Amino acid sequence: LADVIHLRGRASDLVVDVSTGVPTIVYWGAPLDHGTDFSRLAAALDRPLTHGSPDVVAPISIVPEHGSGFPGRPGLSGHRRGGTAWAPRFAPVSHEIDVDDSRVVVYTVDEVAELSLRVDFELDQALTVTATLKNDSSTDRYLLGGLTITLPIPEHAAEIGTFTGRWTRELHPVRVPWEHGSFTSENRRGRTSHEHPPLIFAGSPGYTEWSGSVWGAHLAWSGNHVVLAERLPDGRRYLQLGELLHPGEVSLEPGQSYRTPQVIAVHSCVGLTAATQQFHRHLRARPSHPSTPRPVLINTWEAVYFDHDLDRLKQLADRAASVGIERFVLDDGWFGSRRDDTSGLGDWWVSPDAHPDGLKPLIDHVTGLGMEFGIWVEPEMVNPDSDLYRAHPEWALTTTGYESVLARHQLVLDLGNHQAFDHILGHLDALLRDHDIAFVKWDMNRDHIHGSGNTGAAGTRAQTLALYRLLDELGDRHPNVEIESCSSGGARIDHEVLRRTVRVWTSDCNDALERQTIQRGASMLIPPEVTGAHIGPERSHTTGRRHNLAFRAATAFFGQLGVEWNLLDLTGDELDQVGVVVALHKRLRPLLHNGDVVRFDTEPAYSAHGVYAADRSEAVVSFAVLTSALSLTPPPFLLPGLDPTRSYCITRLAVPDHPSGPNRRVPAWLADGVTLTGAQLGAHGIQLPAIHPESAILLHLF
Ligand code: DGJ
Repeated sequence: LADVIHLRGRASDLVVDVSTGVPTIVYWGAPLDHGTDFSRLAAALDRPLTHGSPDVVAPISIVPEHGSGFPGRPGLSGHRRGGTAWAPRFAPVSHEIDVDDSRVVVYTVDEVAELSLRVDFELDQALTVTATLKNDSSTDRYLLGGLTITLPIPEHAAEIGTFTGRWTRELHPVRVPWEHGSFTSENRRGRTSHEHPPLIFAGSPGYTEWSGSVWGAHLAWSGNHVVLAERLPDGRRYLQLGELLHPGEVSLEPGQSYRTPQVIAVHSCVGLTAATQQFHRHLRARPSHPSTPRPVLINTWEAVYFDHDLDRLKQLADRAASVGIERFVLDDGWFGSRRDDTSGLGDWWVSPDAHPDGLKPLIDHVTGLGMEFGIWVEPEMVNPDSDLYRAHPEWALTTTGYESVLARHQLVLDLGNHQAFDHILGHLDALLRDHDIAFVKWDMNRDHIHGSGNTGAAGTRAQTLALYRLLDELGDRHPNVEIESCSSGGARIDHEVLRRTVRVWTSDCNDALERQTIQRGASMLIPPEVTGAHIGPERSHTTGRRHNLAFRAATAFFGQLGVEWNLLDLTGDELDQVGVVVALHKRLRPLLHNGDVVRFDTEPAYSAHGVYAADRSEAVVSFAVLTSALSLTPPPFLLPGLDPTRSYCITRLAVPDHPSGPNRRVPAWLADGVTLTGAQLGAHGIQLPAIHPESAILLHLF
């Protein structure tokens, strides 16, 4: 008999059957009527027994069990010496529900395998689930191969939303039909990865931004992971997410436990936009989420690269301050022997070559201009050509007997090694203690490939946990220092690193055309205030494309805005234009960084998105032409989801230097604005002027 628990969230309801041992989700979807008889939900979905299958229908529980007859991928894999306890079956023990019905903890046990499993559910803005496996044996260790979280998905959700990616082309959304079999994405990079963001959606076929049922799940974890979507031959579907463990990475000694990373899951009956807003609300509800205005910054990387000259940096700071920039971030090149990317990682002391009088003259200059000072570090790495490596080659993640694979001339430092960890912590602590530093750009530029020091054992899990400890420890010691998560651009974007960091570097690609898609994908997981977005030089160094300032500015405008461009090369007019963009962004950032992110459905030649104020009193939206389209004139821009009865005054936002486009006459409203109701805008939209490919138009509605 079903024993069900009902959790009521802000946007969805969850009904869990705890009689199945490991709990099983029997309903996760639109809020249910108060009159619903939840015990009948499970009964209503009771499946028939068919010929050619076991005499039970094993449930798709949170950790489905091979030993119970589940025909898909078990949620738990592991064994004891001799190969026993490889297919456990857990029986219910007890559960605890929070007074406000938002949380439940379910306890189960397998007395034969001497294992117990605890599952934690919380439903608020989003659903979060974790599982904890404990080795109850007093004598034998348990070798864990993997523990994942499984979410059953209704059978009509026959389309998958996933992502492709690589360096400078992160988070490209892709749709895949989900007819049969499985879709898998596995990450072995040792960081969240460019290629396989731990994020997946499933929805009713053809779901759009504003229609259809959508379920989404994210694994909040910055190491290796597996994401699976499987349709069983009996028609049922599920998503499964978890840490990918290398052989031998988790060996549970008697009494020890392993807890999965959190799976954060969202659902909407009205399309993808509403679903992904729940990811944003979930993040925004955390106490650690930034609540102060996000400073506009200048980053020195694409301005000067490794060429650190104090006078030039000071002039750059002067120019930055003059256009209203609020934070100056000194990127790679300030430390050790780091005159290029071949040496110096690990030597976290100020380079006497680059900065003979230390960083103080520059920091004093920057702060004297009223800006904050930020600095780049890459603490998890070491160059073989460094004092640190020469002193401690055994601190690198290498495997004795094998030649090391280098990437960008560097190795991973084994932070699972306490001495290495303490050494790096000490240096970072001193750096922050001895300087007036408000911001750290924390980079990580290579994959894990080798084992852990002398033991040769795989070290990715230990490294991931050590990274979190390092960030936590620094955060405790320097609570006012903000940290950015960067990993060759966007290879470390996830909700777990965002517990410890206030923004991500979304991509090393500052090409506005590429960024339109990258940021659209990123917006499916993270809100704009944590999405680093910079105005780069006119010619992008990663693609060679040229874009005018209007397109670059309109594209970076919604994120945490930065400038990564040598402002010393600009004419007075160009500087003024940057100043106008910065001022406009500052004026609108309370809306941009607190409102509801919306994306619009368009033909592939276009990309449109925006931010609506939570009370729908105001909005900023962007319409970009990515490539040439069938018609020179774009279709009327439909804006669903506004307040239907409210009248909105619509004006074009004057991002400077905007191109006129191929119009002989532009729509009349462009001159003075126009007032339309939310209902009109949703049903009929507003006609835009024709604009050239690789340009965008921004509208303000108020
Ligand atoms: C990779 C980062 O993503 C870039 O922004 C820059 O900081 C370089 N590393 C510096 O080496």
